[in-house]
Amino acid sequence: MNINKVYFLCSNTRIDRLPKDNMPEYAFIGRSNVGKSSLINMLVQRNGLAKTSSTPGKTITINHFVVNDNWYLVDLPGYGYARRSKKTREEWRMMLNSYISRRRNLVTTFVLIDSRIEPQNSDLGFMEWLGENNIPFAIVFTKTDKLNKSELEANLDAYKKRLLEDWEELPPIFITSSEKKVGREEILDYIDQQNAELDDMKKTKGL
Ligand code: GTP
Ligand code: MG
Repeated sequence: MNINKVYFLCSNTRIDRLPKDNMPEYAFIGRSNVGKSSLINMLVQRNGLAKTSSTPGKTITINHFVVNDNWYLVDLPGYGYARRSKKTREEWRMMLNSYISRRRNLVTTFVLIDSRIEPQNSDLGFMEWLGENNIPFAIVFTKTDKLNKSELEANLDAYKKRLLEDWEELPPIFITSSEKKVGREEILDYIDQQNAELDDMKKTKGL
């Protein structure tokens, strides 16, 4: 997929103020500092479009970007950031959960996982919640440039093995590095394919 046009549309903390749900939407979520905003910038090739920071907790709102006048890309706050108060974390969790479970045009939620660390309960629990709520998701392993090939393979194998303890089959998995621009085509092709399937469905329904 070529990205011909991308722009920031709006930031929200209230889900009753989100933009119209008239285009397919793809959201990027994961623990604070995992690389959500960096990945979005890498995908659309616009450094600085989504705000990044080496300090966790940078993104604190639901941010909508419009791509090719055709679909929404959404940057979300991280979950489980320990340095925020318990009350703030709980508020964010509720905002994220209600956004994800109520947003009708959300096609795929991309769950970002730092490829360097072992499976975390917060990520596994979040994916379990997605499954229970029938919300389609894919996994994106981030920061793979920080590992060598054998370390990466070992970590991915261990992660998949852990997932298969809970799941009968694995979700789509993407291996990425925003730093080295790895995984861009794969994610964009996947989104393209989902958009095409939705178009076909609309056509057969005569919409
Ligand atoms: P919050 O908005 O705070 O939840 O963080 P985020 O998940 O949006 O992370 P962000 O994109 O702001 O990146 C966090 C830090 O990780 C920044 O210092 C990035 O430069 C760094 N980073 C992100 N992706 C990569 C990557 O692929 N490779 C390397 N080496 N660093 C990365
Ligand atoms: Mg961010």
